[in-house]
Amino acid sequence: MQHILEELEKRREQARMGGGEKRIASQHGKGKLTARERIEVLLDEGSFEETDMFVEHRCTDFGMENQRVPGDGVVTGWGTISGRLVYVFSKDFTVFGGSLSGAHAAKIVKLQKMAITNGAPIIGIFDAGGARIQEGVESLAGYADIFLQNVLASGVVPQISVIMGPCAGGDVYSPAMTDFIFMVRDTSYMYVTGPDVVKTVTNEVVTHEDLGGAKVHAQKSGVADGAFDNDLEALTQVRRLIEFLPGSNRDRAPEWESFDDPLRDEPSLDSLVPSNPNKPYDMKELILKVLDEQDFFEISADYAKNIICGFGRLEGKTVGVVANQPQVLAGVLDIDSSKKAARFVRFCDAFNIPILTFVDVPGFMPGTKQEYGGLIKHGAKLLFAYAEATVPKVTVITRKAYGGAYDVMSSKHLRGDVNYAWPTAEIAVMGAKGAVEIIFRAEAKSDPAALAEREAEYKARFANPFVAAQRGFIDDVIMPHGTRRRVVKAFRTLENKQLENPWKKHDNIPL
Ligand code: HXC
Repeated sequence: MQHILEELEKRREQARMGGGEKRIASQHGKGKLTARERIEVLLDEGSFEETDMFVEHRCTDFGMENQRVPGDGVVTGWGTISGRLVYVFSKDFTVFGGSLSGAHAAKIVKLQKMAITNGAPIIGIFDAGGARIQEGVESLAGYADIFLQNVLASGVVPQISVIMGPCAGGDVYSPAMTDFIFMVRDTSYMYVTGPDVVKTVTNEVVTHEDLGGAKVHAQKSGVADGAFDNDLEALTQVRRLIEFLPGSNRDRAPEWESFDDPLRDEPSLDSLVPSNPNKPYDMKELILKVLDEQDFFEISADYAKNIICGFGRLEGKTVGVVANQPQVLAGVLDIDSSKKAARFVRFCDAFNIPILTFVDVPGFMPGTKQEYGGLIKHGAKLLFAYAEATVPKVTVITRKAYGGAYDVMSSKHLRGDVNYAWPTAEIAVMGAKGAVEIIFRAEAKSDPAALAEREAEYKARFANPFVAAQRGFIDDVIMPHGTRRRVVKAFRTLENKQLENPWKKHDNIPL
């Protein structure tokens, strides 16, 4: 009996060594943790239960029959984060460069199915060289099997991808279909085709970093939702994110104990909005002062900074926050900010997370660049997302809410449940100057001096929250210092909100 037990331990030890000491040392030399070390950091201590540790590839071409490593380049299993179940797969670069074989794919698919059935998030850690070249179409089939499960899991369980090394070719599309992608600066890159292919096809010379590094995707392309300095930080932040999220679309988000007075006043907010309407201020200050313990997990912080999206808590319960940022491009809605926020709103709606929206938006960004880029369709994404969302929606307009952007930003008309405005709000079809230049065009030509008077008249008449409040489009005009209290109380009334959209196979959001 003893030798059987020893045999098991021997096999386990062999699997744990992955591609061997030399390759593990090389991994460490690049400043990266190994697949198993990453799982250890990610999960609660001692909670990892590994699956399919003894799975091997079945390839017999190119001498592969003599090169089998138990586990076959991916470590899979489940464990807990702050006591809550999650499923994890972690690609092992030390085994055939983490490349994907049929057997490797089957391990991931098995895990994806378990996550869907059992209603728990799935976290994928990527560090791999794409399709297992020796396996050819077997590997392509494996990718497609994973993609299918990504799609089936979408909106059912949260899916998070962490890119911690190469992620190229077939490997990029699975993360692309997950809810959030995080990258590690300097050691990770993501692209469909690498620098060599780029050079051959387009004659462009580009480095891995410039083609698909964390900076590119977290700031320019918007493919990544965050970038971190090293493996440790990235995994710690994923733990933090998981604490905000429900296990599945069948759950409510977890509730944690809060020590922050829900009815706390914040007098400093009374002077947040400058008296000059063209002067910016930092919307993050409002977000932090309203949320429990100033704890805010921002999504895509470095991309489309004119809109802020992220998770926080009120009375210990998760809320998704969307807010225009007057500090960047005056908080205007453009292509990138519309896409970013639309995706975030849809995530919140899919996973029963109430949405808190802070509005200070001068409108949609004008210009040929935006129009040629399809601003109409991209802007419509955000409108669509807010309109279809059935989760509790509370909105506070702090200053500008102009034109179509007023409608879009969780207005009453798109089924905003509770809509408040600060006394500084200006809810109008456009800014006073632009408005009088249009309606008094003839007069402007003959008597330009009169225009200033007209502008002042227009401002006095429309640049306030009361016209909208008179019509019931705003439920109340509230004091800035009481925002947390009012918002908390509003969400309390929405605890048992029930709202369903008409039956459909699925909608046709303007993609
Ligand atoms: C099999 C692979 C592999 C692969 C790497 N290895 N990629 N084995 N299939 N795709 C092996 C290497 O042979 C090597 O084995 C070990 O992994 C480490 O690789 P290195 O090249 O030494 O590492 P490094 O210098 O860090 O370079 C990493 C890399 C490079 C940039 C990822 O390995 C690379 O370019 N690999 C190929 C990438 C690729 O073209 N993949 C196919 C994409 S097509 P030893 O034994 O020496 O340690 C694709 C289509 C799918 O994915 C589409 C589905 C929709």
